[in-house]
Amino acid sequence: MIEYRFEPLNPTHTCKAYAIRPRDSSSVIIVDPQLDHLDYYTDYIAQEKLDLKFIIDTHTHADHLSAGAALKEKYGAELIMGEKAPAKCVTHRVKDNDQLLFEGIPIKFLETPGHTADSISVILPNEILTGDALFLDEGGAGRDDLPGGDSVDHWETLVKLKNLPEELIVYPAHDYRGRIPSSLGKQKLTNPFFKIDTKENFIEFLEDLILGPADWMNGILKANYNCSQDPKAAWVPLDSPSCEVMGTLDPDLEKLDVSGISTQQLEEQLHSHSPKSFILIDVRSKKELSGKYLQHFVCGGTKRLCHGSYR
Ligand SMILES: [Fe+2]
Repeated sequence: MIEYRFEPLNPTHTCKAYAIRPRDSSSVIIVDPQLDHLDYYTDYIAQEKLDLKFIIDTHTHADHLSAGAALKEKYGAELIMGEKAPAKCVTHRVKDNDQLLFEGIPIKFLETPGHTADSISVILPNEILTGDALFLDEGGAGRDDLPGGDSVDHWETLVKLKNLPEELIVYPAHDYRGRIPSSLGKQKLTNPFFKIDTKENFIEFLEDLILGPADWMNGILKANYNCSQDPKAAWVPLDSPSCEVMGTLDPDLEKLDVSGISTQQLEEQLHSHSPKSFILIDVRSKKELSGKYLQHFVCGGTKRLCHGSYR
């Protein structure tokens, strides 16, 4: 049994970072640190009297500035990224199945492109750090429409992840809803990205998704390509679930009563003499709005809300 410490850092933030520490040593690896949390990491290193040896960025982040370059310079640590990472400050570029024995802890790297071309996952004896290649449960995975993203690559990545030991606990680079990390085996049952059976269906599924705007991410990507250490190098919205393709914008929405409603039930509700107050969110896919899947209702007496087929 290999003993080591694995610590999620800044656990309440939607961008996740992790520390890997040998049991009886001051050495530490930090994975996916964010520049706006730099003080947090330096305090952590000082308080625990740690010696930062490596920083790993699972990919070029598009939604936050990496602290990789700043930590590397401050502590003289090595910065590890995937072979295709464009940032010049990277000191070690890893390929599929490369291994690092970190004071007795075997660490394996897996190329897991799709969200970005340079994405890697980091496999420890008990955990897998999936970056944005796989999130938790209905969080799905990172979006593939950013520069370097590729949905076919992402499909192949998911196949690769599915074939890993099921007991590995998944720790992603993001979680927007306070989900509890769980095993790859559980993700096979709960993550929609794992439930799709063919490459064609996966690509269709991604094409069907309606994603938020991503223009603002270009400035962040550029700053990370340039190894920027300036927290003002690019505008970053506060805790935006920008890399996620599933889920909702507001974690507090979980506290609301959110339930599905058929078009027939909606029509009845709109005709009701004592209608309830509600917000309608149309989540039908393009497929459901065309051809034989078209569902529509007529709003009758409430024409101020809608008229004819509802889209
Ligand atoms: Fe990302």
